[in-house]
Amino acid sequence: MLPTDVPALWLRDNCTCADCRDPLTDQKLFQITDLPEQLAVGTLRALDGGDAVDGAEGWEVVWAPDGHVSRYPAHWLQQTGEPDPRTEDAKDLWGSAATLADGLPETTWSAYLADDAERLRMLEAVARLGFCLLRDVPLRDGQAQQVARTFGFVRETNYGTQFEVRVEERPNNLAFTNVAITPHTDNPYRDPVPTLQLLHCLVNDAEGGDSGLVDGFAAAAALRESDVGAFAALTGTPVPFAFRDDVTELSTHRPLIGTDPMGRIREVRFNNRSLGTLRLPAEQTEAFYAGYRAFARLLLDPERQLDFKLGPGDCLVFDNTRLLHARTAFARGGARHLQGCYADLDGLLSTVGVLRRREAQPC
Ligand code: OGA
Ligand code: ZN
Ligand code: ZN
Repeated sequence: MLPTDVPALWLRDNCTCADCRDPLTDQKLFQITDLPEQLAVGTLRALDGGDAVDGAEGWEVVWAPDGHVSRYPAHWLQQTGEPDPRTEDAKDLWGSAATLADGLPETTWSAYLADDAERLRMLEAVARLGFCLLRDVPLRDGQAQQVARTFGFVRETNYGTQFEVRVEERPNNLAFTNVAITPHTDNPYRDPVPTLQLLHCLVNDAEGGDSGLVDGFAAAAALRESDVGAFAALTGTPVPFAFRDDVTELSTHRPLIGTDPMGRIREVRFNNRSLGTLRLPAEQTEAFYAGYRAFARLLLDPERQLDFKLGPGDCLVFDNTRLLHARTAFARGGARHLQGCYADLDGLLSTVGVLRRREAQPC
């Protein structure tokens, strides 16, 4: 039988007949307000054999009061929902380098380009672990953007379509000096924040300049486990982030830990360089600072950090809403040059979806 607890309005809203959905685009043709107020299942009939929907068993509903006819395959009715791919429910959290069971998600540029399965494996690693590492990426100007274009779209910002991470004469950001950069997410002062970052190493001959990654979702989950009050203070306090230079004045108010309406971790922002001045009642300010310190202790714990050194040709692709990245200081005269760009997860997840579809139905 059709389960009795299926809400009528949900069922009708999901009718796939040609009057309800455009057969070419599969897009819905009606508004929710177009459906009858007194909607109810009129008659119900099992479909099998010759009546089946696209060869599958199912149900036919004739709706009251308007007599509209809908058909639903049984397998469709039994499907369960997928978790939001952006939330912690769809991630493999790693609390330390040691918990990355299968080692670094890495491949060569040529394997990535040549093989759809390898490309899918790398992009799924970004979705599930938060990063992947491509090796032997050509040492060409603009190559980080070329990498981004294999799965999505470059996000242009005030730093340009790409940015040069090297020692500048007059830097507008500490990233463009030789000092250590502690774990952070980029551009928390931007809304929407760039959800992906790419860093392509062209030269790294300097003493130092090693890289680090930290799983911000794992740290946020650990904070929730150890100190719910701190977690609540961070998810519930909008924090001002700001960046300014001669021609830029960016700011936004967002929490350090962003959750979805169900309370699941969905976004982390952490950047001591660009956190602005909080102006809230004393009690709230104190609660925020206690939480901020507790979260920072977790995030800055070296045990949580995956350490490695980028060499020429390495291109790191990572989720800037989840992972924090860092680099150690390097000798001032040392040669070090990365090119970076921003891109977005929606495009990457779309490419994952298309590659999975192709894998399921090889041509
Ligand atoms: C950056 C940054 C890291 C590095 O440019 O945002 O954090 O390895 N750079 O230089
Ligand atoms: Zn219909
Ligand atoms: Zn950065």
